[in-house]
Amino acid sequence: MRTRPRVSARSRRAGGEEGPGDGALPPCYPFVAADIVRLCRPRDGGVWVDLGAGPGPVGLALLERCRSRIVLVDPNAESLSAARQEAADRGVADRIELACGRAEALPFADQSVDLVVSRGSIYFWDDQPRGIAEVYRVLREGGQAMIGGGLGRDYPHWARQEFIRRRHEGVQRKGPEAYAEFLRLRQPDTFAAWAQQAGVPSFEVEGEGGRPPGDPSAGLGIWLRFGRQGVTR
Ligand SMILES: C[S@@+](CC[C@H](N)C(=O)[O-])C[C@H]1O[C@@H](n2cnc3c(N)ncnc32)[C@H](O)[C@@H]1O
Repeated sequence: MRTRPRVSARSRRAGGEEGPGDGALPPCYPFVAADIVRLCRPRDGGVWVDLGAGPGPVGLALLERCRSRIVLVDPNAESLSAARQEAADRGVADRIELACGRAEALPFADQSVDLVVSRGSIYFWDDQPRGIAEVYRVLREGGQAMIGGGLGRDYPHWARQEFIRRRHEGVQRKGPEAYAEFLRLRQPDTFAAWAQQAGVPSFEVEGEGGRPPGDPSAGLGIWLRFGRQGVTR
């Protein structure tokens, strides 16, 4: 019999995935953080940014794996307050900074940041090429950016399938135009066009994006990766 992990109240508050169907799914954020560390290989001690952090689930999951500090950036002050409370609950309040701001005008000096991660946010930006150009501007030599959406390579298969099913059903309920736009925003070609318009000289788009449930490539998510000196492998 397949057993499903229990989801604690704490992990739900910290971003356990809940969709329109029954029951909470396990949080994807530890798995996303593992992918970020595996792919970007950031060094502890640099300036790290979680862009479009919301209540901070990605940045806080990174702090649980690493000894660094992280700046959580979001235009929504209430989300940042929730992030502050969650960081205090986890005992890492002294390792975060909060910055109310938008991707299109990042509150950082040129070439001053070592890592920019952004999950589930780029779809909501007003101007994606401008936001990507801003991320490139603030990256230091050797800095890395990972922007997009996904559940993490090692997120349990059953939960991934269920998450995708709920997400697609939820968007489809908004109508065919909304669903088409949802898929368009998550296409590799869309991400590549944004990066080109942003003038990023070298980048990679990984994953297949918003594939329908049942598609074997569904669930890989989609990530734009770039760095000032190329993409780490
Ligand atoms: C779906 S939430 C993602 C939160 C979190 N990163 C996660 O993975 O769960 C999208 C976030 O993007 C933020 N956002 C919207 N427009 C933005 C912009 N122009 N620049 C930066 N963040 C933005 C929203 O306020 C929201 O917190």
